[in-house]
Amino acid sequence: MKAAVIHSFGPPEVIRTEEVATPVPKNDEVLVKVHAASVNPVDYKTRSGHYPSVKQDQLPLTLGRDIAGTVQQCGSAARKFKPGDSVYAMLDREHGGYAEYVIVKERDLVSKPRHLDYTEAAAVPLAAMTAWQGLFDHGGLRAGQRVLIHGGAGGVGHFAIQFAKARGATVATTVATSDIEFVRELGADLPIDYKTQRFEDAVHDVDLVFDLVDGETQDRSWAVLKRGGAIVSTLSTPSQDKARDHGARGEHYMAQPDGAELRDITALIDAGKVMPHIQAVFPFNEVRQAQQQLEHSHVQGKIVLELES
Ligand SMILES: NC(=O)c1ccc[n+]([C@@H]2O[C@H](COP(=O)([O-])OP(=O)(O)OC[C@H]3O[C@@H](n4cnc5c(N)ncnc54)[C@H](OP(=O)(O)O)[C@@H]3O)[C@@H](O)[C@H]2O)c1
Repeated sequence: MKAAVIHSFGPPEVIRTEEVATPVPKNDEVLVKVHAASVNPVDYKTRSGHYPSVKQDQLPLTLGRDIAGTVQQCGSAARKFKPGDSVYAMLDREHGGYAEYVIVKERDLVSKPRHLDYTEAAAVPLAAMTAWQGLFDHGGLRAGQRVLIHGGAGGVGHFAIQFAKARGATVATTVATSDIEFVRELGADLPIDYKTQRFEDAVHDVDLVFDLVDGETQDRSWAVLKRGGAIVSTLSTPSQDKARDHGARGEHYMAQPDGAELRDITALIDAGKVMPHIQAVFPFNEVRQAQQQLEHSHVQGKIVLELES
């Protein structure tokens, strides 16, 4: 099968499309024929050697952390799916989705949302589960609370806005000038232009800051938190000293595959309450350009790679 593999860290040119052996599913594993795979920041961070948990001795490595496709073959103990079923999943670290076929643990595999095609479905798993876990598992966001989402127009942020609104929270979000209308359409109550406005002048008494930006944006966020509130970040551990000073909590987390949560997300998509937004679709042979666009251009929502079906 074809796979997009790196043998060394570096610029997009280190990605090579090559022939590798098609894996065989064991026990509770399922082999999925990939129709589309999404591109996430973790992919270009891994490729460039800036993702701390992937080291040189783990190369060669197939990139890609989420897919949508059809079941090709089930392991002997995998009984929930059959060949031909339409599915999607966030992958564990051992399996890369920029490939014609990928192994997925049965417990992480979920039926594709009814009204999404494979390209739209592939845009969902990693970004949406990161948003879900940050807001609800780590942030404990509840109906009636106020959340400030930093970076609301990106892959994770555009799902976070929709989930928080569906839960009944009030949503403020920092975005670029050109994204104000986009996030308003997603349901944001208070878009804040991070290029021209200080968010401290626009919001206060926030229950949760969901930080997808880091640096001084994270550091300035203590000022808008309620006592008892929390900063939850996908990027770094917030200062525990400042958390104590503000009577608040600061947490960093890594998103994990979770089939049960992806089923809850699927139900919201099927109910028409949440939709992925795709900015651009690239054919598989343009994987380098796809990564380059996410890394260096302004992107609204997601970028997806399509494989031949
Ligand atoms: N820990 C985990 O498990 C985990 C999981 C997923 C993602 N992540 C990390 O979380 C971050 C967000 O992921 P993503 O997929 O949403 O990335 P993304 O699609 O690249 O989106 C990032 C967004 O942040 C915006 N932004 C940049 N600087 C900003 C600022 N100062 N204020 C407000 N918004 C700003 C960008 O807008 P512009 O175009 O205007 O710059 C973009 O819309 C990435 O760094 C990713 O690596 C971590």
